[in-house]
Amino acid sequence: MMRSAIVIGASKGIGAELVSLLAQDPSIQVHALARKIESENKWEAYKNVQVHNFDLQSENLTAELQSILSNISTVDYVINNAGYLVNKPFLELSREEILDSYNVNVLGVMSALQLLIPKMLPMGGHVVNISSMGAFQGTVKFAGLSTYSSSKAALTNLTEMLAEEFKNTSLKFNCLCLGAVQTEMLAKAFPGYLAPVTAPEMAEYIVDFTLKQWKWMNGKIIPVSLSTP
Ligand SMILES: NC(=O)c1ccc[n+]([C@@H]2O[C@H](COP(=O)([O-])OP(=O)(O)OC[C@H]3O[C@@H](n4cnc5c(N)ncnc54)[C@H](OP(=O)(O)O)[C@@H]3O)[C@@H](O)[C@H]2O)c1
Repeated sequence: MMRSAIVIGASKGIGAELVSLLAQDPSIQVHALARKIESENKWEAYKNVQVHNFDLQSENLTAELQSILSNISTVDYVINNAGYLVNKPFLELSREEILDSYNVNVLGVMSALQLLIPKMLPMGGHVVNISSMGAFQGTVKFAGLSTYSSSKAALTNLTEMLAEEFKNTSLKFNCLCLGAVQTEMLAKAFPGYLAPVTAPEMAEYIVDFTLKQWKWMNGKIIPVSLSTP
């Protein structure tokens, strides 16, 4: 039976690699969501990939996602991979930067999940939230990442809350707190730093976790890191 996977934040970095890997399984219909997916459709060769424009910051988020979901009957996997990072001293952060961080990293995800979860309840499924080592209690922290890391920490906690609230259903919620991965986001935040993990490598782990590990875990916050940041 065909399963469906939704990747939010699919245009580049880890998210684009997630879509490419999931697409290799023809039994999975992959929905790639992001604000702008550059190339016409980089997954054109795959019949099982559909690309949707979707902005977690949109005022019309609910209507836009409803429209995307109108042709999708059930959802099996959701990977909340979108991320917004500002590296700035706390006292210099604008209100807009703080709101943007929270909108992309947690508030938009909450609104999206309010629509996605009902599509998952009939068949069960796995929601994987992509957070950061900076949002994992007790790790090394980096000055400048207050709004990024605190908003990701809210996503981390949300995972535990949803696992509790839906514990009597077939839904599973888990959160991966990633260490450094070589992507555009990391290069911008830490210029010159070379991460020990590439985006395709991290995507391989996330896809395996999403498709297989749900059987044994719910409400878990998992550090996935060879290094810190
Ligand atoms: N790279 C690392 O070292 C690292 C470490 C820890 C955690 N993470 C987390 O891993 C995830 C992937 O990061 P990455 O390094 O691959 O970053 P990236 O290359 O910057 O990709 C981020 C993705 O999020 C999407 N996105 C941003 N704002 C959005 C919005 N308003 N609506 C919808 N999508 C939006 C981007 O798409 P558009 O800009 O095209 O919309 C893009 O596809 C993020 O959640 C990040 O916080 C990364």
